Amino acid sequence: MMYVCKKFNQYAEEIINMGIIKITAIAGSLRQGSYNRLLATEAGRLLGNSAQLDILDYSDVPFMNQDIEYPAPDAVKRARATIKAADAAWFFTPEYNHYFPGALKNLIEWLSRPISDDEPQVMAGKPAAVSGITPGMSGTGIAQDHLLSLLGIIGMKVMYAPRVTIPHANQKTFIDGKLASESAAQFLKEQCQAFVKFINEQ
Ligand code: FNR
Repeated sequence: MMYVCKKFNQYAEEIINMGIIKITAIAGSLRQGSYNRLLATEAGRLLGNSAQLDILDYSDVPFMNQDIEYPAPDAVKRARATIKAADAAWFFTPEYNHYFPGALKNLIEWLSRPISDDEPQVMAGKPAAVSGITPGMSGTGIAQDHLLSLLGIIGMKVMYAPRVTIPHANQKTFIDGKLASESAAQFLKEQCQAFVKFINEQ
């Protein structure tokens, strides 16, 4: 009986999830305590029932090297499968020297390549949004400009506005994982709503 109930619950959950928008969040930082990963988690919370947001772990993706491109390494296969199954991707990027980090560029290089002669790359046509947070003054705006340009080049459907750029991050920016600043949380919430609408319109 227990088994039947468990199976039923699993099917019910799958049916409910079928209609839910799935967003893959990609944090540009691999750092454990990354502000950008915290921001992604907060976006997932603020999305509420309107979408499901899961953060991609790509820390094991090797450097792009055409000598190992085919067959792709398992870590790349996993990242591609995650993106392919998602309705959209949302990037949360730090700024490194007014650019987005190399680890993120490397991931995008892998994702921008065809899976095989018969299977195209997984990013083209997917809706994309960009946000970022930094202890610095720029709020990651300059890094975001570069990233948005690249996402357009690889064929993503980019939502250019609204964007969220949060400067002056410190240890008080998140309290119990939530954005302490009401105005920052409000901007992020507005971006959540805009992105869900943008995804639905594609
Ligand atoms: C930085 N940092 C930084 N910050 C910024 O606002 N503008 C910048 O151009 C740079 N440049 C830069 C270069 C390099 C190589 C590093 C490692 C760092 C600081 C950076 O924003 C800070 O470490 C953030 O906390 C990184 O984001 P996460 O890891 O907290 O998400």
